Amino acid sequence: MAAKYSLIFIIHRRLGDHTPKRCSRYTAGRKCCINPAMIITIDGPAGSGKSTAARQLAKALGVAHLDTGATYRAVTLAALRAGIDLEDERALTDLAGRIDLRLEYDNSGELRVILDGQDVSREIRTAEVADNSHYVACSTGVREVLVAMQRRVGAELAAESGGVVAEGRDQGSVVFPDADVKFYLDASCEVRAKRRCDEMPEADYEQVLRAIRTRDERDSTRAVAPLIKPDGAVVIDTTDMNIEEVTAELLRQVRSAQ
Ligand code: C5P
Repeated sequence: MAAKYSLIFIIHRRLGDHTPKRCSRYTAGRKCCINPAMIITIDGPAGSGKSTAARQLAKALGVAHLDTGATYRAVTLAALRAGIDLEDERALTDLAGRIDLRLEYDNSGELRVILDGQDVSREIRTAEVADNSHYVACSTGVREVLVAMQRRVGAELAAESGGVVAEGRDQGSVVFPDADVKFYLDASCEVRAKRRCDEMPEADYEQVLRAIRTRDERDSTRAVAPLIKPDGAVVIDTTDMNIEEVTAELLRQVRSAQ
C-alpha cells in the first residue's frame, strides 16, 4: 500500500444504496468503535478559502478530503442534462436516487467526480452549474440522499486514511455534528469577490461581487440546512490572511485538539 495520502480510493456508491458500511460512526448515531479516525469539518460561504484550505490541511495531515459541494454540483449537472424542471422537487429527488454518482481519488489525492460512468470533474465547475446549484441545494429530498452519501463516504475515507477533512455548508452542523474539530471560515464579500476574480481574470468584479452576495443570501436563508456557524466551530476570518496562513492556523488548531 502506498503512503496514506496517495492511497487510491475508489469509492463506489449508488446514491440509493443505504446498506450500512463497515464504519457506523455517524449512520448509527453513535461513536464508531472500529476506527477512531479524526473527522474535521470546514464550513463557510463561497470564496472563504475553504476548498483550498481543506485540500491543503488534508494533505498536511495525510488524510482524505471530502468536497461535498461537488456532490450538489453533480446532481445539478445531471438535472440540467436531463432537462428536469429545477423547481420540481420530486423530480430532483427521484433523479438524485437514480443517478450513479462516484467520488474517486487518484494517486495524488485529486478528486474525480464520476456521473453515470463519465468523468464530469470539469463540467461541474461551469458557471451554469454554479448558478443553478441552489435549486438542488434547497431540495430536502436531494439533501437527504446526499447527506446519507456524505456520511457513508466520509466515514469510509476516515477509516481508510486515518481521518477526513469534510468541507461544505452543513458539515459541522448537520452531516458530522460530532466531528472532532469544526471550522467556520469567513471573509468580507469584497475580498471573496477579488479572490474569485484572481482565479478567473476575464470575470467582472462588480458582477462577481453581486453573485457572491446573492449566494450568501441564498445559502444562509434557505429553509433546509442553511449556512450557519456550527456549535463548537472555531471561526476564522480569512479576510487579511493568505492561504498559507489559513492552512497553518487550521493545522495549529487541529494539533492542539489532538
Ligand atoms: O461549494 P460549492 O460552490 O461547490 O457548492 C455548490 C453548491 O452546493 C452551492 O449552491 C452550495 O450552497 C451547495 N452546498 C450545500 N451544502 C454543502 C456543500 C455545498 O448546500 N455541504
